[in-house]
Amino acid sequence: MTQAVVVLAAGVGTRMKSSKPKVLHEVAGAPMLCHVVRTAKTLSPTRIVVVVGPQSDVIRHRLGDFNLEVEFATQQQPRGTADAVAAARTHLHGFTGRLIVLFGDTPLVRPQTLTRLADAGDDKADIRVLGFHSENPQGYGRLVIDEDGEVVRIVENRDADPETEKIQFCNSGVIAGDSELIFGLIEDVTADNSANEYYLTDIIEIARSRNLRCAAIVCGETEALGVNDQADRAAAEAGFQSQTRAHAIANGVDLPDAEQVYFSFDTELAPNATIEPFVVFGPGVEVESGAHVRSFSHLEGCVIRSGASVGPHARIRPGSVIENGARVGNFVEVKQSRIGYGAKASHLSYIGDADIGDGANIGAGTITCNYDGKGKHRTVIGKRAFLGSDTILVAPVTVGESAMTAAGSVITSDVPAESLAVARKRQSIIKGFAQRYFGRIDRLSGK
Ligand code: UD1
Ligand code: CA
Repeated sequence: MTQAVVVLAAGVGTRMKSSKPKVLHEVAGAPMLCHVVRTAKTLSPTRIVVVVGPQSDVIRHRLGDFNLEVEFATQQQPRGTADAVAAARTHLHGFTGRLIVLFGDTPLVRPQTLTRLADAGDDKADIRVLGFHSENPQGYGRLVIDEDGEVVRIVENRDADPETEKIQFCNSGVIAGDSELIFGLIEDVTADNSANEYYLTDIIEIARSRNLRCAAIVCGETEALGVNDQADRAAAEAGFQSQTRAHAIANGVDLPDAEQVYFSFDTELAPNATIEPFVVFGPGVEVESGAHVRSFSHLEGCVIRSGASVGPHARIRPGSVIENGARVGNFVEVKQSRIGYGAKASHLSYIGDADIGDGANIGAGTITCNYDGKGKHRTVIGKRAFLGSDTILVAPVTVGESAMTAAGSVITSDVPAESLAVARKRQSIIKGFAQRYFGRIDRLSGK
C-alpha cells in the first residue's frame, strides 16, 4: 500500500527552556527530528511532510546537514497536533493511501514497530494507535479501551479525571490510517478542552461515533519516550544507547562490557567486530567484521576494516580508512588518511592528510607536519617503508617504497625508494665532559 508520513515539528517546546527548536535537541549526535525522519525513510513512503512553524530556517538547514530530503508544510500557529496535521493536507492533495503521523519529539520509535503498525492487517481497524504501558504515565495521553480491546478515546493528561489518570496504557502519538479518513476526522476536531488546542487524539472518539474501529498496537516504553524537557532528553539518550547496545549484541557484535560503549545515531558495526569498554563513536563510523577497537578510543567519520586493530587510546578522525590487518596503537591520532594493509603506527603519532603504504612501519613519535599555516599538504609513505622513531615529515613529501628514515629525522624533501634518509646532525662525543660539569656545580655550591 502507498504510504505518506507526516512528522509534527511545529510545537514551541517551552519546557526545554532553550532558544533552539525542541526537535533539534540532539540524541546520539543527531537532532531528534533526524532520528524520526531516518526511521520514516525506512518505510519507503511516497511522501514525507515535516510540519514546521513559520521560523523554520534552522530546522530546514539541519535536515539538509544530514542529507535528509523532505517536504515542509507550515503551521502558522501552534494550535495543537490536529491543526498541525491539517497543515500538511494541501501538500498531500491527491495522495491516496495510508497516512502515518509521527512526532518530532519522539525519537526512539523503531522501524520494525512502524512496519508492525502498518502491516497489522487482520485487526480490521480503520485507525491504529501506537500505545505503551508505563508505571509512570504522568504527562501522556491515556488510551481508554473497551471490552474488545479497541480504543474508545484518548484522554490528555491535563483533562483526565482521577480515575482516568490511573490508566497506565499511554498514547505514543503515532497514529496510522487511511489518509482521506484521517483528514476528514480532523475537520470535526474542536478546541473544546482545558488547553484550547486542537488535539489529534480527539479523532478516536469522532471515529467511534461513526462506527469506525480503532486498534492499539503496543510497543515498549523506551521506544515511545516523548521528549518535553531536558530530563526527558537525557532519558532518550540513555534509551538510545541501551537500544543500540542490545541491537549490536543481537547482531553478533562482541561487546565485552556493552554498558561502557557510546554509539552515534549512525554507527555501523558488523557481526564479530570487537569493541572494548570506554570506546566513544562520533558520527559516520563503520567497523567491519573481525576488526578490534580497544578501550578509550574515539572514532568519527572512518572505516575500520576487517582484522584491523585500533587503540587503546587512539583517536581516528574523519576521512580515515584503517585497512585490513593494519594497527593503530596508543596515543595515535589519524586524520583524513589511509593506513594501508598491514601497516603499523603503534605509538604516539600524528598522521594527518597521509597515505601510508601497505606494510609500512611508522616509528613511535612520528609526526606529519601537514599544515603550513595556510593550507594542508599530503604525505605519501610507500609500501613497506620503515620510518625511524620521531620522524618529522614536512608535507608535501613522499617517502618511496621500502625506504627508511633515521630516528629523529626532519624529512623536508622526497626520499627515493629503498634509500635511507638521515636528516639530523651526526652524534659527537666530548670525553670527560659530564665529570667536569658536575664537578663544577659541586664546587660552586660548596660541597
Ligand atoms: C502528545 C499527545 C499525547 C501523547 C504524547 C506522547 C496530543 C494532543 N497529545 O502530548 O496524547 O501521549 O504526545 O509524547 O496529541 N506540535 C506541532 N504543532 C502544535 C503542537 C504540537 O507541530 O501545534 C508537535 C510538537 O512539535 C511535537 C508533537 O507535535 O513534536 C507533540 O506535541 P507536544 O506538545 O509535545 O504534545 P504532548 O503534550 O507531549
Ligand atoms: Ca511531547
